[in-house]
Amino acid sequence: VLKEDSSLPAAIRIKLNNKSVELGDGTKKGTRVKVYGRIHHLRPQKHTTFIILKDGYGLLQCVLPAGDLTKTYDALMFAQETALVLYGELRSVPAGQEAPDNRELLVDYYKVLGQAPSDLDAITNKVSKEQDPWDAQMLDSRHLVLRGENASAVLKLREAVELAFIDSYREMEFRKVSPPAMVQTQVEGGSTLFKYDYYGEEAYLTQSSQLYLETVVQSLGNVYCIEKSFRAEKSLTRRHLSEYTHIEGELDFIEFEDLLEHIEELISRVVDKVLADPAAASYMKLLNPGFQKPSRPFLRMKYADAIEWLNKQDPPILNEEGNPHVFGDDIAEAAERRMTDIINRPIFLTHFPVEIKAFYMKKDPSDPRVTESVDVLMPGVGEIVGGSMRMDDYDELIEAYKKNGIGYEPYYWYTDQRKYGSSPHGGYGLGLERFLAWMGNQHTVRTCSLYPRFMGRCKP
Ligand code: 4AD
Repeated sequence: VLKEDSSLPAAIRIKLNNKSVELGDGTKKGTRVKVYGRIHHLRPQKHTTFIILKDGYGLLQCVLPAGDLTKTYDALMFAQETALVLYGELRSVPAGQEAPDNRELLVDYYKVLGQAPSDLDAITNKVSKEQDPWDAQMLDSRHLVLRGENASAVLKLREAVELAFIDSYREMEFRKVSPPAMVQTQVEGGSTLFKYDYYGEEAYLTQSSQLYLETVVQSLGNVYCIEKSFRAEKSLTRRHLSEYTHIEGELDFIEFEDLLEHIEELISRVVDKVLADPAAASYMKLLNPGFQKPSRPFLRMKYADAIEWLNKQDPPILNEEGNPHVFGDDIAEAAERRMTDIINRPIFLTHFPVEIKAFYMKKDPSDPRVTESVDVLMPGVGEIVGGSMRMDDYDELIEAYKKNGIGYEPYYWYTDQRKYGSSPHGGYGLGLERFLAWMGNQHTVRTCSLYPRFMGRCKP
């Protein structure tokens, strides 16, 4: 059993990202510290055992000279993920050697806090950048997969992105609100509603907080929310989840062009902030080293021109029935992604036909066949934002409910906004996981979610 040498200076506890501690270097002694963490990487050698320790904040090389420290039962049982506390002197890495942050801990004492079996390598190493997102075994092991460097870097980047949105909204004077998740109205069509029993009444999990945001711009000014949205998507794709994080904004007293400019400004600000944050930039370097900030202005393309563009390709990009696209067709996921990848820059796709868009969208005054709507498409992912101007005329909205077969009684609170000082207004929703798949170069939104939910999976 190891014993701490009581003649040594008391150790101060640090996290592994603490760079302010005095390092020793041959001539002077470094600070004696105490670090808690888990084994990220283990390299036992004849004269020395090297451990790369991780604690969620950083990495530290720990050096155990062969002898009492390495002969214990605990040391023989060291494995990836063993939890322990180590004591020792922090010093610069000797010339010619390499370690994280060019420093290492010369260990004089340690205690194992939690052992780990040595089977984890197989799980976490499999999850490299090429991980197969469809692999059920990997999804079942998500709780262990998250221990890996790439999987956890995505989540760290996710936090940085979310904070960048919050900061950007603050700078742009948007107020944050928190609409309900349990609702009795639909926003994006009945086919993806999750229904449940609410004390004997039919209720749904929200598809979007948009309608609620529209009811507070009058008193709070421009607003946003970051909430979960739920969609009973009945297909398995790279970019559909049943539960996702929806960043939604609503702007009052604007025109369509203002909405487009705002979305471009928001995305640009968020990218700038993420790249300017050294920690976030390091996750970007790991996940997406080739990332380049999109140049402004973003490309604008009308739906009608996109249809023409698809048909003009050689060979033409066909619709889901295998025919050339015609005005009125939904541009399906595959075609949309091909187009985005060929153009290879963000696209603001605008002016979708009335028939293929939601009931609340305002018509273009100069062409009533189309709506003042926008989808933002990103290379590698496709649509990451959907937005529009909203119908602000009372009678027109009532007509739209009827046309879409929506009983309008449950929407009285939404309709009322068109009676009490209606205004030209609009907004959008952005899928955080999709944004992250774009920035973090992820093949699928599933790895951008802590515990992804999609058709057939509601665990762990
Ligand atoms: O285009 P959508 O359906 O628009 C709305 O919900 C509007 N009511 C939002 C608004 O105007 N306030 O969804 C907006 C975005 C999509 O562009 C996509 O990024 C994301 O939400 N999204 C999903 N992300 C993951 N899984 C799904 N099943 C998603 N459905 C939509």
